[in-house]
Amino acid sequence: MRILISRPLPGGAADFLRRCGYQVTVLPDDRPQEQFQRELAQADGVICLLSDPMGAAVLAEAARLRAIATYAVGYNNIDIAACTRAGLPVTNTPDVLTDATADVAMILILMTMRRVPDAMRYLADGRFTGWKPDLLLGRDLRGKNLGIVGMGRIGQAVARRAEAFGMKIFYHTRSGPKPDLPWPHLSFDALLAEADVISIHVPLTDATRHLFGPAQLRRMKPGAVLINTARGPVVDEAALVEALASGHLAGAGLDVFEEEPKVHPGLWQHPNAVLLPHIGSGTLETRSEMGMMAARSLHEALSGRRAPFTVNPEVYDTPAWRQRLGSGA
Ligand code: DGY
Repeated sequence: MRILISRPLPGGAADFLRRCGYQVTVLPDDRPQEQFQRELAQADGVICLLSDPMGAAVLAEAARLRAIATYAVGYNNIDIAACTRAGLPVTNTPDVLTDATADVAMILILMTMRRVPDAMRYLADGRFTGWKPDLLLGRDLRGKNLGIVGMGRIGQAVARRAEAFGMKIFYHTRSGPKPDLPWPHLSFDALLAEADVISIHVPLTDATRHLFGPAQLRRMKPGAVLINTARGPVVDEAALVEALASGHLAGAGLDVFEEEPKVHPGLWQHPNAVLLPHIGSGTLETRSEMGMMAARSLHEALSGRRAPFTVNPEVYDTPAWRQRLGSGA
């Protein structure tokens, strides 16, 4: 069977799949998207990336495909309903990237609260003439309110880290309070009004697209900071630029953008915007383990078993799934 890997992955995923007996094609980093789609037509299994659109039209061209492993925890790039209808299990890579992503959220909180981008530019521009008591004053984390929106694994890991820095934690989830968590649950509006820092940890869905639009940003506390390590389109980037430019928000820490890889030019103008190129899970250990998880899950699914971390487990045992497994050359 043939497996397509969308781009080179750190670690041993491709070798593992070759040892399992698959013919593995790893596309180069600089390949055009059309090449991925062409190769997909020949593949029995694929490890795709969050940047590969996997909508119904792409899937329609992939007649041989029997399973999809996405190299990410988020799967908003994949039409899951279309996959289920087509009998395709889709797996993702949760848990393993929780700590790495929470670390980046913490980096962004620290950098925005302590005005690190402004301070680095100040030094680089040759404006530092000596120590001064009021030079580039930031704000303490201790005693500040951190509002976490979306309290899954990553949100909780951020809460634990921030608590160690003395922050007061509260959270909002659409599903309501989680009884096993020690932190208070607030309504979304109360969280917007109370938080000095808001950190976003929701998946991108129709319900969360532009969850932070002009009205919600206006309801945030004056001088607050917005952190996003989840998905760019959860925040209306143009509205965020406005909120920063007007001085209503004191900073933003973003690892994700509305139209990656583009960054709204207005964000670069703000002295206290920390902008990172979607590196939340980007450690060698985490990215290697994500590759192994994807490879193992794909192997299970292609062997006709229920793969771990399947996001559409209802696909198993459907006629469409059985037909997919039975087909292919
Ligand atoms: C994910 O997994 O969804 C991250 O955005 C990339 O690791």
